[in-house]
Amino acid sequence: MPVSIECSRVSTLSRFEVIARHDISIHIQIFMLMCGIVGYIGNREVAPLLLQGLKRLEYRGYDSAGIALLNGSLSVWKQKGCVSLLEEAFSGSAAIIKDVTIGIGHTRWATHGDPSDRNAHPHVNAEGDIALIHNGIIENHAVLRLELEKQGYSFVSETDSEVLVHLIDHLWTQIPLIDFESAVREALTLVEGTYGICVLSQREPDKLIVARQGSPLVIGVGVDEYFIASDAAPLVEYTRRVIYLHDGEMAVMRQSGFRVSTIDNIEQDAVVSELDFKLEEIEKGGFDHFMLKEIFEQPVVMRDVMRGRIRLADKTVHLGGINDHLEELRSAHRMVILACGTSWHAGLIGKYLIEEFARIPVQVDYASEFRYRNPVVGPGDVVMVISQSGETADTLAAMRMAKKRGAKVMGLCNVVGSTIARETDFGLYTHAGPEIGVASTKAFTAQVVALIMLSIALGKNRTMSDPEIAGLLDELVQVPEKAARILQRNEEILRIAERYKDASNFFYLGRGLSFPVALEGALKLKEISYIHAEGYPAAEMKHGPIALIDKELPVIFIAAQESSYKKVLSNIEEVRCRKGRVIAIATEGDREISRLAEQVIYIPHVSPPLLPLLTVIPLQLLAYHIANLRGHNVDRPRNLAKSVTVE
Ligand code: F6R
Repeated sequence: MPVSIECSRVSTLSRFEVIARHDISIHIQIFMLMCGIVGYIGNREVAPLLLQGLKRLEYRGYDSAGIALLNGSLSVWKQKGCVSLLEEAFSGSAAIIKDVTIGIGHTRWATHGDPSDRNAHPHVNAEGDIALIHNGIIENHAVLRLELEKQGYSFVSETDSEVLVHLIDHLWTQIPLIDFESAVREALTLVEGTYGICVLSQREPDKLIVARQGSPLVIGVGVDEYFIASDAAPLVEYTRRVIYLHDGEMAVMRQSGFRVSTIDNIEQDAVVSELDFKLEEIEKGGFDHFMLKEIFEQPVVMRDVMRGRIRLADKTVHLGGINDHLEELRSAHRMVILACGTSWHAGLIGKYLIEEFARIPVQVDYASEFRYRNPVVGPGDVVMVISQSGETADTLAAMRMAKKRGAKVMGLCNVVGSTIARETDFGLYTHAGPEIGVASTKAFTAQVVALIMLSIALGKNRTMSDPEIAGLLDELVQVPEKAARILQRNEEILRIAERYKDASNFFYLGRGLSFPVALEGALKLKEISYIHAEGYPAAEMKHGPIALIDKELPVIFIAAQESSYKKVLSNIEEVRCRKGRVIAIATEGDREISRLAEQVIYIPHVSPPLLPLLTVIPLQLLAYHIANLRGHNVDRPRNLAKSVTVE
């Protein structure tokens, strides 16, 4: 059973929750969001090869990097920062690294513990003769760590990964006549969670061992040499012959050959496939743009946000980073949510949910407005700052102001160790992985999943009964699969985009929780297609904007079935009789809507509180396709930066 993982010693992150997941599959090959693995055994000088491989993985985003080389003894270099800094650290070590032909390297995107030298991989055992790199999460790391500490092991990092190296060491030492391979096998049978690992040891220096459970690993096959990587990007310049390791498999490589088996030691036939992708295609996972890749990652991201936080066995939510603060939150006079842009839209959804489930009054403010007025905020208030990057200047300044005035400050961030994450009193991470496309997509859905879980946690024992919570959680865990079904409508959405791409204005309308989604849909369109688009509460249309409607104006209605559905239908009628061109996002099985709208994009049925997670996806795709058809650089829209660290 998944457990919620806490890290009690994350000093610089205050009590921000530390738990993450990272794996994802897409249509070219299995692909991974964060952290990169490279490894090599053969006859080439390994250090430049590993560094080059790590550079090839830089596109995934990372905050620290490291390598371990085996040349009689193990040498490890690792540090916070970019690969070229690591390369510099190497420059004085020419004598050590020359002629070394076996090694491993890693780029880390912080999840357990802040980005730092000591949390960077590889991790080594106390004797310094085993080195390991790991992608994924060891869900039972806290229990294993405790056990190992009782056995006298001390830990130098805050990572879940370090547990693995000590566990291998422990089993290798304790079990008589066991070899390296069996020690790794035994260790893996004890861990719960996901991993892609690559490990080497000076006790058996002719081997490189890899294993996979939920985190991709590719073995490149050369002549008397093997290349390891978490995706094919670092391999393509050396070989196009690859083996994709399956979940539950491990491989032991020597220069002379390799063997693939299951973790339970049943020999497997390894299928060697031929790579026929260009490097750029691999980086984007076969998608034309990072934005599209990130839209398609959403089902996996949603699962990652929930991982370890929802216990289906007893139908409860466990948010490690805020567990100790639930009462404080429940008894707050009110909550104030501060954010910018897309994160602000997520905040608005948070307001609706928290007020509905927990009956705590919530005010949502633009951080940029809040910081420049004289807001009423202070002791008794809980301020929640929402930020993907954790570095947005306005959000940061507003947060500092609220803190100074005595409010408790909670964060909801994606980037671990970011300034906002560090300066908040407590918080949650969204674990959406690095978002590279400037237009935020997966970070938004991750924020909304986190806010749904938060509102349920706050609503428990207040307005929400246990059966109600159980029902909603059951549905929530089904949402990723439903999101994947919407993504299958990509071609259909492309056709709609082709039809409307030349419009010069768009109108997005929704009520209730669909109103923030309308805002988000409009923002996505304007920022990448440069078409003017406005989001509005559907009922407000009649108070002015209805004057805009004519036969040129596409009006997108978010008209999923929920309490205001009938009212939205009336709003659609109002637009239709003024000749507006209606595109509706509606629930599967809704026949009525097809009579009213020119185009309908259907989404699977889901309970109203979960609707934003689905209704936003067609809007992201529509914006993407329109921008792309208009020939814009979707990943780098003009005038925009990914992180707005200036005013
Ligand atoms: C829109 C977008 C921006 C950000 C905003 C806040 O697609 O990405 O509106 O949402 O700049 O950024 P964070 O969440 O990093 O604080």
